Amino acid sequence: MGTVKNKKVLDAGCGEGYFSRILAKSEAAVTAVDYSEKMLEIAKERTPIDLGIEYRHGNCEDLNFLEDNSFDLIVSNMVMQDLGNYEKAFQEMYRLLVDGGYFIFSILHPCFVTPESGWEKTKDGVKLHWNVDKYFYEGVYEQKLGDKQKMLLFHRTLTSYVNNIIKAGFTLEGLIEPKPSEEMLSKYPSFEEDFRSADFIVFKLRKKI
Ligand SMILES: C[S@@+](CC[C@H](N)C(=O)[O-])C[C@H]1O[C@@H](n2cnc3c(N)ncnc32)[C@H](O)[C@@H]1O
Repeated sequence: MGTVKNKKVLDAGCGEGYFSRILAKSEAAVTAVDYSEKMLEIAKERTPIDLGIEYRHGNCEDLNFLEDNSFDLIVSNMVMQDLGNYEKAFQEMYRLLVDGGYFIFSILHPCFVTPESGWEKTKDGVKLHWNVDKYFYEGVYEQKLGDKQKMLLFHRTLTSYVNNIIKAGFTLEGLIEPKPSEEMLSKYPSFEEDFRSADFIVFKLRKKI
């Protein structure tokens, strides 16, 4: 990501503001947007005033209250996969960046997290391998969270993500499929299973100069 000191940064889908605060502590001028009023309320409660973060209510698919070419960097952690119109959101991020600005976002890895993915287990619960099915399905689907709760997610193929990124005008500068660090493994040994398939993917995009 490079140094963010004195850079104008947008945290698109900031949630409770965790990443916004890290950026502001590194002396970035942070604007943070989220669609959930509740998350913004929590973010404000958790953010010391002197960090100067500007929290705004908005939809990443249409941020018309923000000016063209107004950010050096846009970050978005685990949001783009939740958007009905992700194509429009890519266009918005492109519009908001200065020429040569960066858009860095992470999503659930679309090749491994699909509508019918999950561990194949023995009767005793030993994880044999990670199953993937319905990879080419594009659209909304329901994911069970435990026995009672359900969550709506969207799935798109990697091809669709990349083609829409290119269509918006971005250049793809880098990809990361994160793996746990030694430090994380010693703290959370169950993360060992993240070496077996990739849960997340991070895109680094640049607006043309
Ligand atoms: C998984 S959370 C991630 C939050 C934060 N980026 C983080 O890393 O902690 C996804 C966030 O995206 C927000 N979100 C979902 N759809 C959105 C939209 N259309 N526009 C803006 N925010 C949205 C949700 O309210 C939620 O706070």
